Formats: sequence, C-alpha cells, structure tokens
Amino acid sequence: MWFTFLLAQAFVALVIGDATDGLLSAVQNTDDCPSCLDLLGAFQTVALTGDDAFIVSFTNICIELGVLDPDVCAGYIEREGPILAHDLRLINTTGQTAQKLCDALMGMCVTHPLNPFTVPFPKPPPANPKKFVSRGRPPIRVAHLSDVHIDRMYTVGAEANCTKSICCRDFADSPANPTVPALPNGNSHCDSPVSLADSLLEEVERLNPRFSIFTGDVVEGATWIVDQGEVTTDLQAFNAELASKLSAPIFPSLGNHDSAPVNAFARTTSHTANNSQFVFETQSAGWEQWIGQNAALQVDHNSGCYSAKVPGLDLRIIAVNTQFWYKQNYWLYDSDVVQPDPNGVIAFLVNALQAAEDAGDRAWIIGHIPLGKEDTLIDQSNYYDQVLQRYINTIAGQFFGHSHKDQFEIAYSNYSEQTAANAVSVALIGPALTPTSGNPAFKFYDIDPDTFSVVDSSVIFTNISDAEFQISPKWGLYYSARETYGPLVGLAPDEPLSPAFWHNLTEVFAVNETAFQMFNTFISRGGAVTECDADCQNTTICDMRAFRSQDNCDTPAEGFALRRRVTTSHEHDACEGSGLAYILSSMVAASK
Ligand SMILES: *[C@@H]1O[C@H](CO)[C@@H](O)[C@H](O)[C@H]1NC(C)=O
Ligand SMILES: *[C@@H]1O[C@H](CO)[C@@H](O)[C@H](O)[C@H]1NC(C)=O
Ligand SMILES: *[C@@H]1O[C@H](CO)[C@@H](O)[C@H](O)[C@H]1NC(C)=O
Ligand SMILES: *[C@@H]1O[C@H](CO)[C@@H](O)[C@H](O)[C@H]1NC(C)=O
Ligand SMILES: *[C@@H]1O[C@H](CO)[C@@H](O)[C@H](O)[C@H]1NC(C)=O
Ligand SMILES: *[C@@H]1O[C@H](CO)[C@@H](O)[C@H](O)[C@H]1NC(C)=O
Ligand SMILES: *[C@@H]1O[C@H](CO)[C@@H](O)[C@H](O)[C@H]1NC(C)=O
Ligand SMILES: *[C@@H]1O[C@H](CO)[C@@H](O)[C@H](O)[C@H]1NC(C)=O
Repeated sequence: MWFTFLLAQAFVALVIGDATDGLLSAVQNTDDCPSCLDLLGAFQTVALTGDDAFIVSFTNICIELGVLDPDVCAGYIEREGPILAHDLRLINTTGQTAQKLCDALMGMCVTHPLNPFTVPFPKPPPANPKKFVSRGRPPIRVAHLSDVHIDRMYTVGAEANCTKSICCRDFADSPANPTVPALPNGNSHCDSPVSLADSLLEEVERLNPRFSIFTGDVVEGATWIVDQGEVTTDLQAFNAELASKLSAPIFPSLGNHDSAPVNAFARTTSHTANNSQFVFETQSAGWEQWIGQNAALQVDHNSGCYSAKVPGLDLRIIAVNTQFWYKQNYWLYDSDVVQPDPNGVIAFLVNALQAAEDAGDRAWIIGHIPLGKEDTLIDQSNYYDQVLQRYINTIAGQFFGHSHKDQFEIAYSNYSEQTAANAVSVALIGPALTPTSGNPAFKFYDIDPDTFSVVDSSVIFTNISDAEFQISPKWGLYYSARETYGPLVGLAPDEPLSPAFWHNLTEVFAVNETAFQMFNTFISRGGAVTECDADCQNTTICDMRAFRSQDNCDTPAEGFALRRRVTTSHEHDACEGSGLAYILSSMVAASK
C-alpha cells in the first residue's frame, strides 16, 4: 500500500507540482481531529490561489489514488469543490466551523459541543389546550411515498454491474458488451426507471387515498453528473406524472438530491448567486395545483417550506426543508459566526404551528431527513425538538424519508428517562421506491379523522426478485404494523399507534430476538437484508429512541476515517450522495 502510494505521490507531484505535494502529505498525516484541521489548512492554502488550482490538484489526487473512476472524481470535484474552496477562504481552520467540516467530511472532530439556543415562541403554551377526541369514525387513507430517485437515462440493456454507485446507463466508459444487461423495470444497482415509478403511482391511485405525502428525493443518484438543468427537468417531469396519475392531492417536500450540486442549499447569508432559488421556483410552480397559491408563494419565499390546509379537514401539512440542518450541505460551513436558524426554517415552522394552534387545527410535519440520525447537525436537531415539545398538542404526526428504510424515531419529554409515559411523538420514516436499498415500497396509513393520529401503517411493496417483476411489477401488502406488532405489545383495539405504542415495541425488540429480526428484515422489505448482531441490535434500538441527533448511538469515534463506513447499525451511509466526503475519507484511507 505504502509503496504504491509513494509512487502515486511522486507521479502526481511531477505532474502538478507543489500544491499537490502539500495536500498529499497532509492527507497522509490525517488520522485525528488536529491533523484533520491541518488538512483543511493545506486545502485552504490551495483554495486561496483560486478554484481552478483547487479543482485540478484535488482531482489529480483522487484519480491517482484510484479512489473512484476518473470521470466520477472529476465530476464530483468540479461540482462540489468550489463550495468547499469558498468555505475554506472564509473560515479559521482551527475554529468550530472547521471542526464541523471535519466531522462532515471525515467523521473526525465529532465532539464539538451543542451550541445552546432557546427557540423564541410567539405565545406560551395554552393553559387549556384544545382536545382532539376520536369519535371512532372510519379512518382516512393516506399514502406516503419517498425517495423515488427516478433515472430518466435508465437504459434497458446497459451494464447493471458497473463500478459506479449507479448503473444501468450508457456511461462514456461503459463496456460494449454488458455482463449483466439491465432489464426493463429495475435492478438493485440502479435507480428507478420511469416504468417503475409509473407502476408505483398506478398502485397508489388504485388504493384511492384521500391525499398523499411525498418526503423528497426525485432526482437520481449519478450525482457526479447531475446539473441544474437536469434537476429542473426531473422535478418538472415527476410533478407532471403525479398530476396525470393521481386524482387526489399530494403534499410534497424537498430532498437533498433535489438540487445541484447534490445536497447544496446555500444560506441567504452567503449572498451567492449559486443559491437554490431555481429549485424553489420550479416546485412553487409545480406544487401549486395541490398546495394552493399561498403555500406556493411560501415555497418560493421560504426556501422550499410551506404550510397548507388539507381541503375539508382540520389538518395542516407543514413541509420543512431539512437540508439546512444536513451535515453534507457544505454551504453551512462558510462562516465562523454561529447561525442557529439558517434561512429561518425553524422560525417558519414555529409561525406555521402557532397559526395552526390559533385556528384549532392539527398539523403534520413532513420533511426529507429525519432529525435523529448521525447526518443531522446536533444544534438544529435540538432546536427542532424544542419546537416539537412546545407544540406537542398541535402536532399529530411527523413523516420523513431519506434513509430509504422503514423505520421510526421516538421523541420524549425527557430524553434521560425514555419511558412509554414520556414518549410524546414519533417520526415515521417511509421506505424508498428506488431498488438500491431493498424492495421498492411505499406506506399506506389509516388516519383517525378527528385526531389525525395514525391508526395503522402498512407497507406495500413489489418484489424485484420475482420473475414477473420485469414484465409488470405486482404490488401487495408486505405487513400491517397494527396486525403484526399490535399483539406483541398488547395494543387495545381503540388505541392508535401512539408514541407509547412505538416505545413499548422497542421494549419488545430488546428482549424478543425473533421480533427484532423480523423488524430487521422489514427495514428493507425483505431485500438486501443486513445481518444485525447483538451490538447492532443495541444501537438500532438506541436510535429508535433518538429523535434528536445528539441522542443517537451512531456518532463515529474520532480517529480512523473509514470507521464511519463500518456498519454498526442501520444508519444510512452518512456520505450518501456526497462525493467529497467519500473522496476525502477514501484518500486518507488509501494513503495509510
Ligand atoms: C457559482 O457559479 C459559478 C458559475 O456557474 C461557478 O463558476 C462558481 O464556481 C460557483 N461557485 C460555487 C461556490 O459553487
Ligand atoms: C483562529 O482561531 C484561533 C483560536 O481558535 C486564534 O488563535 C487565531 O488567531 C485565529 N486566526 C485567525 C486568522 O483569525
Ligand atoms: C460483476 O462485476 C465484477 C467485477 O467488476 C465481477 O467480479 C462479478 O462476477 C460480476 N457479477 C456478475 C453477476 O456478473
Ligand atoms: C429527567 O429524567 C432524569 C432521569 O430520570 C431526572 O433526573 C430529571 O429530573 C428529569 N427531568 C425532568 C425535567 O423531569
Ligand atoms: C406501554 O407499556 C406500559 C408499561 O408496560 C403500559 O402501562 C402502557 O399501557 C403501554 N402502552 C401502550 C400504548 O401499549
Ligand atoms: C416474540 O415475537 C414473535 C413474533 O416475531 C412472537 O411470535 C412471539 O410470541 C414473541 N415472543 C414472546 C415471548 O412474546
Ligand atoms: C421475493 O421473491 C423471491 C424469489 O421468488 C423470494 O425468494 C423472496 O422470498 C421474495 N421476498 C419477499 C419479501 O416476499
Ligand atoms: C445497550 O448496551 C448498553 C451498555 O451495554 C446498555 O446500558 C443498554 O441498556 C443497552 N440498550 C439496549 C436497548 O439494550
């Protein structure tokens, strides 16, 4: 390893000189927080000479160390590199922002403390909060779709077994004779073909929901190629398909893939022309037909967030752009001034919830990235939890996606005492359509029309290993949470799937191995099941009880970079879709 590395180093140094030399030795020395900060210092030196030098040196190292295919190295660094260079020109590489950047890029310096901040509220909690009581009326059905990741360049017959993160496409370096030709309706190494997305929407329509929610990620995962033009046409095309296939309204939210470069949503304080206003404008126009004119204006003016009333129901859907709390959004690291509420998303949420409380409505919050995982910044996760606790009587549900998995996260009134009595809310996480993390699926909820609580949650799936799948995907019930989990916790017939129910289920998972392993299989709808031993089980249960990211058990230990990619639980790869984080930690590993 060392010998090859030294050869590579010598070669690169000859080709592009001193800048690369400095970077390479810094890469080679990186193995803890201080050396990671030194590495940022070395990158800062290059960034100060301009974006072009930064991109060229960085790309050459990536290619020479064989970290990724050359076109993938070049594509990622060309797209995401200028944001990192911009950050490094503006921050002190020994400060807190630099430490957070080391955390995001390499899983180092993760111990930086929470920045305490008290979220301001317009009014104190009401002395006598409105009571929402079930009258036992028949439930409303709601569909929850997520992470469709439609690849409009999916090519039947293209190589499905490639060395890139997404296959089934004619890439410039694709082999002439594919070893595994892509079939019509999808492959586990590839994002969804349009035919699979159409099939999903036809199944949703057949089940006739009162309305649907979509928790983000329209755009496919070949993120080293995706540009603003593709994002715009992908978003527009999916909006058109939703409109043509679904007769009931759909309430959508934005995912981290729904921008270009991937994950990039600039803060207004960055005063850059490279903000994501093009996304907000595209979705404001595309979503207006379902969310109404006022909410559409909010999408445009509030960085993709909106609050809309569901027609005929005392329920508001509040959509938040969670990407402003996402570690892999590198625009969040361009200042040493701590900014508690980038783009005012938390303030927007507070105002929308206050309006719902004042009107006597209940609210559901929808967003892409659930707050409890390792990939959400601990500060904003904590502030969001303060909002949740304040408006707990108004918030009847929270729905997210992003992990591609069928999961949940429980919020407690006291996180030091995680009991059924203290469980106050639950975030339900929807499975993905894309076959890259298991069988394609969506959720169907039965909702009490008086309380807007979830009475049942069912997963509908199609089996990609089934011979019929490539002819015409067959959708069917995978399991109902009420039917399968209800008896395990002794759920009473008139009780909804309350936060206490989900907490009690985690208690069952801790002692009943069979039940836990069933959950472990359900996570990916029986496809791509990962083994989960006792440690993994412990971490997985800890994470179910971590609505705030400061409470999860995933925090990677400071030290060796690639540790973060070792699967210790069911957490989505924190570097998902982020070329820079993958490239940097792989470079560090390759130099050891
Ligand atoms: C902003 O966009 C311009 C023009 O597309 C590009 O040259 C520049 O590198 C971008 N800056 C950042 C920080 O992404
Ligand atoms: C960077 O921060 C350190 C303390 O964290 C301070 O000593 C140093 O002077 C700062 N450098 C600059 C250029 O502001
Ligand atoms: C996929 O490609 C790898 C080499 O890149 C090869 O080892 C493997 O056998 C291939 N799989 C199939 C199913 O052809
Ligand atoms: C939260 O729980 C801890 C541990 O049981 C307890 O010491 C603390 O007093 C509780 N806090 C509140 C506000 O009840
Ligand atoms: C959860 O468990 C507690 C303690 O066993 C029990 O009192 C409570 O009724 C259970 N709640 C639900 C919803 O299952
Ligand atoms: C454990 O869970 C399984 C279902 O996964 C169930 O059949 C069994 O009865 C449970 N065992 C106990 C002791 O509750
Ligand atoms: C999917 O189909 C394969 C092949 O028929 C079968 O082995 C597998 O059990 C099925 N998976 C599920 C979750 O039904
Ligand atoms: C996980 O392990 C820790 C330490 O061994 C233990 O304190 C904790 O109770 C375990 N948690 C679960 C959910 O089993």
